[in-house]
Amino acid sequence: MRYPPYMDAGEKDQNVLHIRGLSKSFGGLMVIRNLGFSLARGEILGVIGPNGSGKTTLFNMITGFLKPNGGEIKFLDRNITNKKPSTICKAGISRTFQLVKPFPHLTALENVMAGRSYGRKPAKNIRQAREEANEIMEFTGLIDKQMIVAGQLNLIDRKRLEIARALATRPLLLLLDEVFAGLNPFEVEEALSLIRKIKDLGITLMVVEHVMKVILGVSNRVIVLSYGGKIFEGLPEEALQDRNVIEAYLGEDFRA
Ligand SMILES: Nc1ncnc2c1ncn2[C@@H]1O[C@H](COP(=O)(O)OP(=O)(O)OP(=O)(O)O)[C@@H](O)[C@H]1O
Ligand SMILES: [Mg+2]
Repeated sequence: MRYPPYMDAGEKDQNVLHIRGLSKSFGGLMVIRNLGFSLARGEILGVIGPNGSGKTTLFNMITGFLKPNGGEIKFLDRNITNKKPSTICKAGISRTFQLVKPFPHLTALENVMAGRSYGRKPAKNIRQAREEANEIMEFTGLIDKQMIVAGQLNLIDRKRLEIARALATRPLLLLLDEVFAGLNPFEVEEALSLIRKIKDLGITLMVVEHVMKVILGVSNRVIVLSYGGKIFEGLPEEALQDRNVIEAYLGEDFRA
């Protein structure tokens, strides 16, 4: 795909994302507590933690789908806390959904074209949208499937399409929520190489994943959540050795 360089002059060397004091409750249940971390340009940050520890809720707040109860989210030095999802997408953050939701009756290509019509630097006309969607189909390995309606794609291709749709909005930061769930080992390898290609475009990534092989395979750094709090931040290999992480998440007999 030929749309690097991703960052405009002046956007380089900044923290892409800076979060501090973030919190979220549902009723009386506090699901994110005083969370803070930063993300450097070009980095892949893995986010792990048990079911219900707040990973998707974190993504929902970064992308504007949920409003935090407190704290601040800065993207490229711009305060995006409480901004609308469309504003945040236009600023350059895109995400996939844990439960993939393409338009099931549109073809794969049409789904990606729809993505090219909004977000950061949208296509100016349908021809441009089609051409650029085509490049994204090529990039994500969907070129032979573009005329298939999304609802009939198999799981790996639905996941590819979810990533393609997210890429279509030309993100600077891409959040992936369990795109590897349910894939077989061969498909996991394919998806891993796609993520590395996305990184090579200059896109910064956050990857929520339960498949530890994936986290170890792509992350430069990980944070571990437990009950909405950050219990670890550091190198992936160090997380494997950390007592708190083992107790809260991995279990004693964990093997990567
Ligand atoms: N809209 C909502 N209303 C009420 N409670 C919610 C809502 N969304 C999430 N929760 C609760 O918040 C907690 C964190 O959920 P979240 O989906 O963020 O976890 P997760 O880490 O993504 O889990 P998983 O690994 O299973 O995807 C859970 O207890 C969940 O039931
Ligand atoms: Mg989740």
